[in-house]
Amino acid sequence: MSSRTSSLQFQLNRVPTRLPAPERERLLAKPGFGAIFTEHMVRIRWNAERGWHDAELTAYAPLSLDPGTAVLHYAQAVFEGLKAFRQADGGVAAFRPDAHASRFRRSARRLALPELPEETFLEAIDLLVEADHAWVPSAPDHSLYLRPLMYASEVSLSVHPADDVTFLLIASPSGPYFPRGVKPVTVWLTEDYSRAAPGGTGAAKTGGNYAGGLLAQAQAAEHGCDQVVWLDSFEHRWVEEMGGMNLCFVFGHGDTARVMTPALTGTLLPGITRDSLLTLGRDLGYETEEGRINVDEWRAGCEDGSLTEVFACGTAAVITPVAAVKSARASWTIGNGGPGEVSMRLRQALVEIQRGAASDPHGWLHHARVSFER
Ligand code: PLP
Ligand code: COI
Repeated sequence: MSSRTSSLQFQLNRVPTRLPAPERERLLAKPGFGAIFTEHMVRIRWNAERGWHDAELTAYAPLSLDPGTAVLHYAQAVFEGLKAFRQADGGVAAFRPDAHASRFRRSARRLALPELPEETFLEAIDLLVEADHAWVPSAPDHSLYLRPLMYASEVSLSVHPADDVTFLLIASPSGPYFPRGVKPVTVWLTEDYSRAAPGGTGAAKTGGNYAGGLLAQAQAAEHGCDQVVWLDSFEHRWVEEMGGMNLCFVFGHGDTARVMTPALTGTLLPGITRDSLLTLGRDLGYETEEGRINVDEWRAGCEDGSLTEVFACGTAAVITPVAAVKSARASWTIGNGGPGEVSMRLRQALVEIQRGAASDPHGWLHHARVSFER
C-alpha cells in the first residue's frame, strides 16, 4: 500500500497485530501527558543528494542510533507540538496543522536543517491520524498530541549542517499538561538565566532552548513557584514568556477589557495559541494588542487594579491562569489569585472550536480524511 502527496510516495507499513481494544481503552482512561504513544509513526529521510525520500508509515519503535550521530552532540534538531481532537460528531480534526507546518519550516531554517514541504507535513499527519484514529481520546481535556521532529542523523563529529537528516512524527494520547487543570500557577521571574537573546534561537522550536531552561525551572521550584518567567536578556526587565508558553495580560474588566501579549521581538516563540487568542479575543469584542510590559509595570498594574488577569497559553496547556509572581525583589498577587473571567471566556471559546462544539469561522480545523466512529 502507498499514499502519494504531490512530491512524495509514502509506503504504508501498518502493524499487523494491534493492541486489543480493552487494553487501549485502559491506557486512554488515564493517559497523563506525553507518556504513552500510539502504534505507528511516520519516518522520512533526507540527504543532500536525494532530498526527501523513503517516506513511510511504520510501527512505532525505538530508534537505534550510532553514538557518533550528530544530534547527540550538537543538538541540530527541531520539533513541533500540535493536537488532534475528537469532534462532537465522532470524527477527528487537527488544530491549525498548516500553521505548525509553517513554523516547523522556519525552525528548520534557523537550525540549518532542510525544510520539509508543508504538504508533506500535512500528509504525514493525515496518515498517522488515520492509522491510529482509535487512539484519539474523547474525554474532555484529552486529545492526541502530535509531535513532529527532525534531527541530524548523520554520523559525524565535525560541526556542520548535517547531510543526513531524519523526520519523525509520533503521537501521544494525552490529558492536561498541568494535571491540576486550570488551577492558577505561581511564577518565578528569573534574573539569573536567559532563555533567548537577539540573534539566537528563541523563535525556533528547538530542544536546546528547553534544555537551557531546566535550571531556571528548578530555581523556580526552589522558590516555591510552579513555572519560570523569562525576561529579556539585555535589561532583565521586559517580560517575554513563561516556561513553554506565551503570556497574555488583561487590563480592565468585562466587555471593555484589553488583552495584551508581548510582541514577537525575535526572542519569543511565535505561539499558535497566542495567535489564535489574539483573533478570538477580537471576535469576542476585546481590544487586543501586541505590546510590551516590564516587571515594574506588571507589579504596579496589579497594585492599582488596572491589570486584572494574566494567563499563559500554549498547545499543551491551552490557557493557564497565573495567580502570583515572585522575584528576588518582590512578590505580588494578580487580581484575586483565581482564574479570571476573560481568561476563562477565551479558553472556552478556543476549546469549543477545537472540539467541533462551536463553528470554526477561521477554518482552523483540519478534518481527518475519514471520520470514524469508535
Ligand atoms: N513558547 C514556548 C517556549 C513554547 O514551547 C510553546 C509551546 O509550543 C509556546 C510558547 C506556545 O506555542 P504554541 O501555542 O504554538 O503551542
Ligand atoms: C507545547 O505546548 O506544545 C509545547 O511544546 C510545550 C512543551 C510541552 C514543550
